[in-house]
Amino acid sequence: MVTDGGLARVVLTDRRFGVREDFLQRRLPAAVAEGVIASRRHLNPGLRPSAVAPLRTVVSALTRRELLGGLAPGRSLPFDPLPALERVTSRAMARHTFGPGADAVAGSASDLLEALSAMIGNPFALPANRVTPARRRILRHYEHTMGLVRALLRSRMEDPDAFPDHAAQVARGFDAARLEECAHMLVGALLAADRVPGAAAAWMLLCLSDHAPQAERLEPEAALFAQHLEDGQAPPLSSYPRAVAFVREVLRLHPPTWLITRTATGPVGLGGYEFSAGHTFMLSPYALQRDERVLDDASRFRPERWATSAPPGFFLPFGQGLHRCPGQHFALSLLVSILLTVVHEVRVSRAPGTVTADPRTTLLPVGLAVTLQPRSARSGRGVAAAAGGGGGEPLPRCLA
Ligand code: HEM
Repeated sequence: MVTDGGLARVVLTDRRFGVREDFLQRRLPAAVAEGVIASRRHLNPGLRPSAVAPLRTVVSALTRRELLGGLAPGRSLPFDPLPALERVTSRAMARHTFGPGADAVAGSASDLLEALSAMIGNPFALPANRVTPARRRILRHYEHTMGLVRALLRSRMEDPDAFPDHAAQVARGFDAARLEECAHMLVGALLAADRVPGAAAAWMLLCLSDHAPQAERLEPEAALFAQHLEDGQAPPLSSYPRAVAFVREVLRLHPPTWLITRTATGPVGLGGYEFSAGHTFMLSPYALQRDERVLDDASRFRPERWATSAPPGFFLPFGQGLHRCPGQHFALSLLVSILLTVVHEVRVSRAPGTVTADPRTTLLPVGLAVTLQPRSARSGRGVAAAAGGGGGEPLPRCLA
């Protein structure tokens, strides 16, 4: 376990500490693992800030439909927000990747993730090469998702110019012979955009409830965000500095990917010790980001700390180096959009009781049940319409 921030960065940036498994937990030969790193760069152009900014309208509409859509004014029971938030994040990613009508891909990827969780979070799971019922279930969902993605990808490989979406952009980097590799990579990205950002959004609701003064300070930005959506504008995220700071502080205290592992690809030295090939190294953004030695008041929720300064080196919710999260700009934009939509429409409070963190896979808030109270006549109308109108406020045409 690497507990020093400087050494953790060495582990993340030095190629001798490798990732040797794919998301199906299949062991990758060294050459294949290097190939995966090279291919991942094709994900980047479509996930840059300017490429993901237009998606805010979609995310806001999904948030209203999936999270706020069941609310009736004056009557709302506490509920676990995680499933709705996962639907928001996974559908937003599927929509970004494949354009309108991609909900089926998101649903299939979510089923695959559910099947995988039984294995990843289970310390008694047998190795991936042993065919067990759980493994068969994973492969069934994997094949189904791959089938959908392959079909969508094939048409984009044939004529990328016909599709203005992320998958078409990614497809430009692959020839038809590498369809399988490209589809597998996109399925990985769809999985990454489901529970992990969904969990971050759920922790965000917890923080909105527990830190009402900070939540109130977001209201002017929430109004500005709503105005921008109405005007069809998508300015840089820096236009919402308080919201960005709030999201960063949530990710500091509750990083969904709380544990990162690497395997020594050969003999390596670290911190004055020698390790043989195959040694496993673990580092925890959760522990590093709460280290009182490097941050004042490390255990307190204080978004103001990010308002004026860029996140320092120990801030690792998206990892670093070769495997740094390619979806980080997408994720930030997503979380800011969910946050400001929620703040604009409702007040969040949570049912009494302790919320604990389940660390078995993604760090999940266990015991979280929230109540969402419409803010005003304005939002009351919107939310009431959402409740009574069979699916909520009108969605943008791309989602309807
Ligand atoms: C709050 C949201 C997110 C968080 C906290 C997060 C966190 C992370 C972290 C820590 C890693 C590095 C893991 C490692 O070093 O082993 C990672 C990798 C990755 N993330 Fe994210 N992620 C988020 C959202 C997304 C989204 C929306 C996508 C969609 C494109 C995505 C796609 C990926 C992929 C494909 C990798 C693997 C990169 C590689 O191994 O080269 N992530 N993520």
